[in-house]
Amino acid sequence: MAGRNHLFIPGPTNTPHSVLSAMHVPMEDHRSPIFPKLLTPVLEDLKKIFRTEKGRALIFPATGTAGWEIALTNTLSPGDKVLIYRFGQFSHLWMEMAKRLDLDVEVHEIEWGKGIPLDHLEQRLKEDTNHEIKAFLATHNETATGVTSDIAGVRKALDNANHPALLFVDGVSSIASIEFRMDDWGVDGAISGSQKGFMLPAGLAIVAFSQKAIDATETAQCKRGFLDLKDMINANDTGYTPYTPSTPMIHGLRKALDLLLEEGMDNVYARHARLAEGTRQAIKAWGLSLCAQPGWESDTVSAIVVPEDKDARDVIATAFHKYNISLGAGLTELAGKVFRIGHIGDMNDVSMLGCIAGVEMAMLDHGFDIKPGSGVAAAIEYYRSTAA
Ligand SMILES: Cc1ncc(COP(=O)(O)O)c(C=O)c1O
Repeated sequence: MAGRNHLFIPGPTNTPHSVLSAMHVPMEDHRSPIFPKLLTPVLEDLKKIFRTEKGRALIFPATGTAGWEIALTNTLSPGDKVLIYRFGQFSHLWMEMAKRLDLDVEVHEIEWGKGIPLDHLEQRLKEDTNHEIKAFLATHNETATGVTSDIAGVRKALDNANHPALLFVDGVSSIASIEFRMDDWGVDGAISGSQKGFMLPAGLAIVAFSQKAIDATETAQCKRGFLDLKDMINANDTGYTPYTPSTPMIHGLRKALDLLLEEGMDNVYARHARLAEGTRQAIKAWGLSLCAQPGWESDTVSAIVVPEDKDARDVIATAFHKYNISLGAGLTELAGKVFRIGHIGDMNDVSMLGCIAGVEMAMLDHGFDIKPGSGVAAAIEYYRSTAA
């Protein structure tokens, strides 16, 4: 089909042309005397995205899933208790990984559509007077349901309970797009990947750790090999990596960081919030609702619930085959019940309007009871009235 297939999935996201061009480089010697001139400033600038001065930012040739494993295995020992709330496929997978790593996982089930319940968390931490809970695993933005939790509130709960647990945050679909403040929120491990807010292909786990987490590596007994944090830190200290890095990805990351920092992180957050709100206005005009309950809506992904007599997979298939746009599917228990629109990464008003129009056409094709043009009109009105 002519024209570009636009990704409106919540990752991988569309890679800007300038980032693609920056990656189009000959292979180079990663042990050359000039390699540190590329790597070291990238790692320094990454800290500005995580909003940390005290922490350490690192990249591993892996994905966000490896970021979970890096955090757990480098700081904990088998049998250590970790606390997690399960409210979507990604918090589920993180919980499963912790179990596989022989951690003692305390999981609390939360209705899909909500996030971390701060009152419950504080209460549970206060009950843990012996401080058996060694880490709290927080999924900042649950990509499966389009739910954002309050990490500043999580920090407050830990502080109110005077609890020393490590705070690990999955920011795979929030960091570099939704407000994230590692130092202010006392985050000990922040986990992301290259293919979402960073607008790159998949292939890098992008993480940051506090000194407290790095100190925990001294006593942590979980087995680790490739993903050893100290090996990476020691090599990075000399300007290099412990094994062969993907140099084109580092060039791409350099360019992506330039774009994000040039726009300014507060503006990046504001852009995502605006694009998300325009999408939500369209959803409202269609008479449809989000999987996220009021107050939990994500600014990077909207999971839209279809009427019971419809199958969201039909909308996704028609949008792809007939209109050349990619939408996110409902995962596991949400399969067929929701489709997801990613409003994350290299997007603007007009790209979102293209998506909203495509979704509207696909829904009309499947007999949805919506007024033609209603979602587009609502989004246009919102974007026009709030444009800079
Ligand atoms: C919130 C969240 N956590 C973790 C992951 C896993 O990341 P990856 O697929 O890069 O391993 C994803 C992927 O979509 C995600 O959205």
